[in-house]
Amino acid sequence: MENKKITIEHFLKFKKGDQKLTMVTAYDATFAKLIDQTEVDAVLVGDSLGMVIQGKESTLGVSVDDVVYHSQCVRQGLKRAFLVADMPFMSYQVSASLAVENAGRFISEGGAQAVKLEGGEEIAETSKKIVQFGIPVMGHLGLTPQSIHQFGGFKVQGRSSEARKKLIFDAKALEGAGCFALVLESIPLDLAQAVTEAVRIPTIGIGAGPHCDGQVLVIYDLLNMDPQFNPKFLKKYANGFSIVKESVGAFVRDVKEGKFPTEEHSFH
Ligand code: KIV
Repeated sequence: MENKKITIEHFLKFKKGDQKLTMVTAYDATFAKLIDQTEVDAVLVGDSLGMVIQGKESTLGVSVDDVVYHSQCVRQGLKRAFLVADMPFMSYQVSASLAVENAGRFISEGGAQAVKLEGGEEIAETSKKIVQFGIPVMGHLGLTPQSIHQFGGFKVQGRSSEARKKLIFDAKALEGAGCFALVLESIPLDLAQAVTEAVRIPTIGIGAGPHCDGQVLVIYDLLNMDPQFNPKFLKKYANGFSIVKESVGAFVRDVKEGKFPTEEHSFH
């Protein structure tokens, strides 16, 4: 296992090599510390925290302060993996100067090494400005959850030939703006392959098939903390829901039945 701290140069290696890049989300120091002991390349403090941490229906209520706070928590747990902070809804859309100011907070206060912005050509100039100030930018195309009301739900994007062309155009615009990597979310696998071949920066898929240069998953989804959440793109690697439920249930039973604590867990 590579113990060296991962920097931005690491990402370009995945464009040529046969190894795939991996990224997972994290929101706290305990998970970050654990994840850092795997070979995962990057950790994203996603605005998915609005759903999996705050319990809301979408990511739209997440604030800059929320992402700064969770980035600080994750930073405490990471020694090796590359830390990316998601820029939440309306923290970069209004003006480039506000975007630069907010991006700066994720780096200086949150301890992130890069920021992620959703959108295509329309945010290319803003992304360029952020990069010019020395902050690496990861793009995010396809099903961009901050545009959920525009899409009318969490739906696969890029199905029409027009939408396909636009997505490839957007990917090139973001590459031109200086983005170092691109998340592709919920698009057909052949479109993800076309985008991956069209740009020199690595693509990181979620619901975008096997041809991307890497893959990302939300940690709670990967661990199956919510058995009701079963999108087609998701593979569950554990039964986190049952582990937590059974463990807490066993603790409650033990206490009620006088089996915990015993002498063994007590002080004299
Ligand atoms: O917010 C998030 O967790 C994300 C990933 C799903 C890519 O944007």
